[in-house]
Amino acid sequence: MIKEFLTERGEPGFHLVAGDASYVFSVVHGFLIHHYCGPKVSDDDVEYLMVQVHHDSTVPHPADVAEDWFSCDILPFECPGNGTGDYRPSAVSVSLAEAENAFSGTTATEVRYVSHEIVKGKPKLDLQPAVYADDDEADTLIVTCKDPATEVTFLFYYTVMKELSVICRRLVIKNQTKTKQPLDVLRAYSACIDFANIEPQAELLHLWGTWGRERYIERTPLMHGSLSVSSTRGASSHHHNPFAAIVTKDTTEESGMAIGISLVYSGNFDITCDMDPFGMTRLMAGINPIDFKWRLEYGESFVTPEVVIGISNEGLGKMSRTYHKLYRTHLCRGEWRDKERPILVNNWEATYFDFTDEKLLEIAKTAAECGIEMFVMDDGWFGTRNSSDCSMGDWWVNEDKLKCGLPKLVEQINDMGLKFGIWFEPEAISPGSQLITEHPDWVMQIDGRAKSLGRNQYILDMTREDVRDYLFDVMADTLSTANIEYIKWDFNRNLTEAGSSILPACRRQEVFHRYVLGLYELLDRLTTAFPHVLLEGCSSGGGRFDPAMLYYSPQFWTSDDTDAIERLDIQMGTSMVYPASTMSCHVSASPNHQTERVTSFKTRGDVAMGGAFGYELDLTLLSDEDKAMIKKQVADYHKYYRLVNHGDMYRLILPTDTVNGKCGKCAAWMYVAEDKSEALATFVVIRTSIHPVYFLKLRGLDPNAVYVDEATGKEYHGDTLMNAGLNLTKEYKDGESAVIHLIRK
Ligand code: GLA
Repeated sequence: MIKEFLTERGEPGFHLVAGDASYVFSVVHGFLIHHYCGPKVSDDDVEYLMVQVHHDSTVPHPADVAEDWFSCDILPFECPGNGTGDYRPSAVSVSLAEAENAFSGTTATEVRYVSHEIVKGKPKLDLQPAVYADDDEADTLIVTCKDPATEVTFLFYYTVMKELSVICRRLVIKNQTKTKQPLDVLRAYSACIDFANIEPQAELLHLWGTWGRERYIERTPLMHGSLSVSSTRGASSHHHNPFAAIVTKDTTEESGMAIGISLVYSGNFDITCDMDPFGMTRLMAGINPIDFKWRLEYGESFVTPEVVIGISNEGLGKMSRTYHKLYRTHLCRGEWRDKERPILVNNWEATYFDFTDEKLLEIAKTAAECGIEMFVMDDGWFGTRNSSDCSMGDWWVNEDKLKCGLPKLVEQINDMGLKFGIWFEPEAISPGSQLITEHPDWVMQIDGRAKSLGRNQYILDMTREDVRDYLFDVMADTLSTANIEYIKWDFNRNLTEAGSSILPACRRQEVFHRYVLGLYELLDRLTTAFPHVLLEGCSSGGGRFDPAMLYYSPQFWTSDDTDAIERLDIQMGTSMVYPASTMSCHVSASPNHQTERVTSFKTRGDVAMGGAFGYELDLTLLSDEDKAMIKKQVADYHKYYRLVNHGDMYRLILPTDTVNGKCGKCAAWMYVAEDKSEALATFVVIRTSIHPVYFLKLRGLDPNAVYVDEATGKEYHGDTLMNAGLNLTKEYKDGESAVIHLIRK
């Protein structure tokens, strides 16, 4: 709901009510001033919250505002301009280009209200991924502002979800300058929230990592100055996820404030949290201004990626469940959004590059016997690829390896009752490949500068239409030769020497963003042309696990680290924003190939069951006992599918302390059906000790209902399970797990 009001000065104000959250701002002397973001409040006009400090010599004020308390350096803004009195990080900065006049080359940018309108639903602004909503699910406020000096136009989009405590924000910059000259966009953050009355002990929660250990949760106190998480790698990256939340020191999974900011973007991003001397805290998210400049000709617009603000006053758990629901039902799309995902076996950790059609068929045969539903042929099936240093771009079948050819292989696998999936890394190109020989200019590069290698390969210039056409055609050809029902879309290195030979000098800093737009365009074409194909994203594991990629691929390979114990941190951190249905999780071999840790088949299955489930090991080497275990896991997967994928997730025990980074002794999480009719809790002992004692308090149950533990038949009331908890004390070994299924009586 969007409530409009007039302030005492007669200027417009807006109270956005999303689910049980409020977001209030108003126009004050032409500026958009933020007042409140948090749990729902009943008053619309809360301008009294504005801090009126009579400024001294260090805080300037605008020439046309008489009140001397009005300082751009102190007030909370919806979109802080640049160089006109607010010395904190600015959200927008533009510079007029080419013609010689007083404004050309200067970066001062001011944002003043002009008009607004409210529309039903959520307008689709461009090709970039964004949350979608029907007209009865959301309303959108569009506020038009201008820089009074140059008349550059800014359109602020606020979509307010009715049922969920979510506000989506985007900014559009239009070149409607008086002088009709081109302009350069230098900074264009998608959203800014200035928290005027932040709790004294606020913290920033974010998800950091690297290859093989993505999205670890970290909480750090805010400081006077800036904290930022960002990427300059051309991908959202393993290192920081495009997400952060403002929490208070006492925010837990169940209680306290948590305001998340999640950027729907796969490229260079920045999330900055800046606290000034008055405790005013500015949280901004958007395209990273480093190495970014976008030329706008007169009449053109620049559309920023979307920011999704998730607001909770019931701790991190509720914030996560809000994101889960929104992303599962209003960001993921297509046929596979709601369909039960097939259990797959992927041959990567079974064979790496060393396979033949016969070997693949053997694995597939065992998979079929165990009830697995899809076989995925990973890297190494094309060109002459027997190692990571060749053939990227040469997407034709290696018939030395697949002697029977692709159509025949797929046919035989289909005949076993399995679907067939295939791996591609479309954006990559190898030195020495046929593709690079034919099209040396298709490589992302700067003429005259040596090209860095990453995993022995270069990157294709995705800003080029001819490159995208080639990739579409070659993938479409492969898909049409056989009954291929799944693609794993990988991306194994980050951008360097990011240059495109088709861009003029004044547009060369557009290359990172154009790369991402090119990627989206190709993904869009492919998913539109092949709507039945299930796309799984991947980037050396979870190096591009971001909301934007989920718009095309409803599941993403969570991490190359498949060790069940390592996966506890990875999956728990990922669950901060992303639902189980999006996290691809496989049972792999023991000892694990990445860590050499030994864990039981059961624990590996119990942990992998927390996402889009599958196997990634040589099934032909398994004992009969393990094969029997697969059959049980397959049955459990089907049994619990709805509960895990559509239920509400609760993190019960985090494997690692999120403040001091110390590893805990166990981890636990659970899913509760939306109608609270059943629940599934998983408990894993990381490191045992002598005579340990374990209690597990559950969450999210109906306190008055009686639940039956399916395994023991024992009955408990929901309030007993949540307050007194289960007694799980027994002699667990390291890495042992327990799963408890409770059914409401
Ligand atoms: C990446 C992926 C793996 C596998 C290999 C193949 O590392 O994350 O799952 O597909 O590439 O080269």
